[in-house]
Amino acid sequence: MKFFIDTADINEIREALEMGMVDGVTTNPTLISKTGRPFMEVAKEIVDLVPGPVSLEVVSLDTQGMVDEARILSKLGENVVIKIPMTTEGLKAVKILSEEGIKTNVTLVFSPLQALLAAKAGATYVSPFVGRLDDIGHNGMELIEQIVQIFDNYMFDTEIIVASIRHPQHVLQAALIGADIATIPFKVIKQLSKHPLTDTGIERFLEDWAKVPDKDEIFK
Ligand code: E4P
Repeated sequence: MKFFIDTADINEIREALEMGMVDGVTTNPTLISKTGRPFMEVAKEIVDLVPGPVSLEVVSLDTQGMVDEARILSKLGENVVIKIPMTTEGLKAVKILSEEGIKTNVTLVFSPLQALLAAKAGATYVSPFVGRLDDIGHNGMELIEQIVQIFDNYMFDTEIIVASIRHPQHVLQAALIGADIATIPFKVIKQLSKHPLTDTGIERFLEDWAKVPDKDEIFK
């Protein structure tokens, strides 16, 4: 399973890279605005820093506008993926861009049929948002199961990015279902490594180590 980090914060990306947990990055206009930095500056820095795919989102709503933005953004690096909202105009843009060899990530997917349409249009990735579905009382992970089944039924190459992840259980469920990718906020990546028994285990080992007679000589 691939881990993408869902952030535009360079420090978070750097630390997650050091942990070996960054197969790619997803950004969106909200995450970019949180940095307080100019979009093109932060986008280029991420694209240069990360060896894997980096999703950058267009903001036009019409097909031509999306395609124009995508052509500009794709020049930032070979690893750029263009994030396109799941609309009919967006699908048209995905078709054009996929024919040009520009990779796309169809975002704001909330139903299995939206995912099917995105795959048929030629999307490289689809991003179903589990957390936002949970927020309104739906079952986000059920959507992932349905998309996995549809893509398996018809052998689509489109990869599923489980997005809008709120907590470690979302990552666990995504892995059990067999989703290709989870895009995870940095806070959740850190939570994934934690277990209280690990912490108390370390404490106890160190207490016992203190009783070893030559402990102060060994690592000198
Ligand atoms: C996905 O690519 C989006 O950037 C992201 O997962 C949205 O998550 P949110 O619902 O926490 O804003």
